[in-house]
Amino acid sequence: MKKQILLIVSGGIAAYKSLELVRILRRHNIAVRAVMTKSATEFITPLSLGVMTEDQVYGDMFDLKDEREIGHIQLSRQADLIVICPATANLMAKMNAGIADDLATTILLATNKPVLAVPAMNVRMWNHAATQRNINQLRKDGIMVMTPDSGAMACGEFGPGRLIEPPEITREICAQIGVTFDTSLCHGQSPTTQSNGQDISENNQSPAGENILAGKHILITAGPTHEAIDPVRYIANRSSGKQGFAIADTAAKMGAKVSLIAGPVSLATPAGVTRIDVQSAMDMQSAVDDALPADCAIMVAAVADWRAAHNAEQKIKKDGDALAPLQLIANPDILAALAKHEKRPKLLVGFAAETENILDHARAKLSRKGCDWIIANDVSTSNGQGVMGGDHNDVHIITANGEENIKHATKESVAQTIMERIANVL
Ligand code: CTP
Repeated sequence: MKKQILLIVSGGIAAYKSLELVRILRRHNIAVRAVMTKSATEFITPLSLGVMTEDQVYGDMFDLKDEREIGHIQLSRQADLIVICPATANLMAKMNAGIADDLATTILLATNKPVLAVPAMNVRMWNHAATQRNINQLRKDGIMVMTPDSGAMACGEFGPGRLIEPPEITREICAQIGVTFDTSLCHGQSPTTQSNGQDISENNQSPAGENILAGKHILITAGPTHEAIDPVRYIANRSSGKQGFAIADTAAKMGAKVSLIAGPVSLATPAGVTRIDVQSAMDMQSAVDDALPADCAIMVAAVADWRAAHNAEQKIKKDGDALAPLQLIANPDILAALAKHEKRPKLLVGFAAETENILDHARAKLSRKGCDWIIANDVSTSNGQGVMGGDHNDVHIITANGEENIKHATKESVAQTIMERIANVL
């Protein structure tokens, strides 16, 4: 069934970009119904937004005709996702306070649908303690608040607060509602309509991006490793495997042959993916060797750095207060070994979880391990919540030629971006 977005446009200079967003969403065969706040109409007209959505634009809570034909509750019930773009500081403050004094805020208070807010405002408003407090609370309440871009602003100042570009917003929306994002639909003219007014993209048989990796073999490691100490104990870490599985899923949807070498995780195998389950780093290394050759390897696993020097056959017994009889030895570095392997994949991608000096540490890891790209997880800033086990990720893609930051995105959206970059290279 066609996916539907309820787009709430609030009043900021970036409101004009909502027109572009609607255009790109509709090209992705996503229906858009729009609501404007009163101040949004000072920046763009309901007529121009209505032309883009090819639908009535809603604004007045007390418009009886609207309420009779389609009540404010109904507006959000029909949507798969509510997107606020741009989301002003004022609107987010009202959301945080639970204020419902117009149609937009009433919908937001009454809805049971996921909400994605795309902020845009002056840098000082963004940095203000009140705004940051509101955003923190909204994120805790389950609202997805994207982090705005930095740069020159319409007001002449410089810093964070610029609206993220519509293609990037679309990418996040697509990841949220399970639509394949296609960069090629983000540029060019308005959506082409047939004489009957139907958007041609509705007739698009093949989802965007499908099969661009046909004939390629992608090798992915994911999850933690478990290093046995004795029959009942092991060394482990908090990796959930979600990011690696999301990458495997995206690669398979792009038509690649995917070998997913998974440590112990409780996740379903993505459709079309060959999964090889392993426990320890040593097992993971042999499974990687067995799966070669590959066109690209993406090493997402959080491999344990050490294992017990001796895996005891029987449960190790305590000896009073004596130190644990445990000696650890280093595990092989699977990524570094693959970089020197005679069957080294053409593109070798490592991951790095860092909490400080992210770019410096990641660049050092890139050259130390001999891989082509390092994807650095910024585990210090993701929504104030843990990246490990969580659903969001802040990452930097670091290559020999530069770096790209993907901010506070879902793991599915991060996977989509990474696989698009990889598909470009392959
Ligand atoms: N990696 C690996 N084998 C290991 C350790 C890590 O293949 N024994 C891979 C990971 O899958 C990841 C990258 O190397 O792609 C970086 O892992 P990370 O744990 O961040 O790096 P370490 O080398 O362990 O460095 P440190 O813990 O000191 O940051």
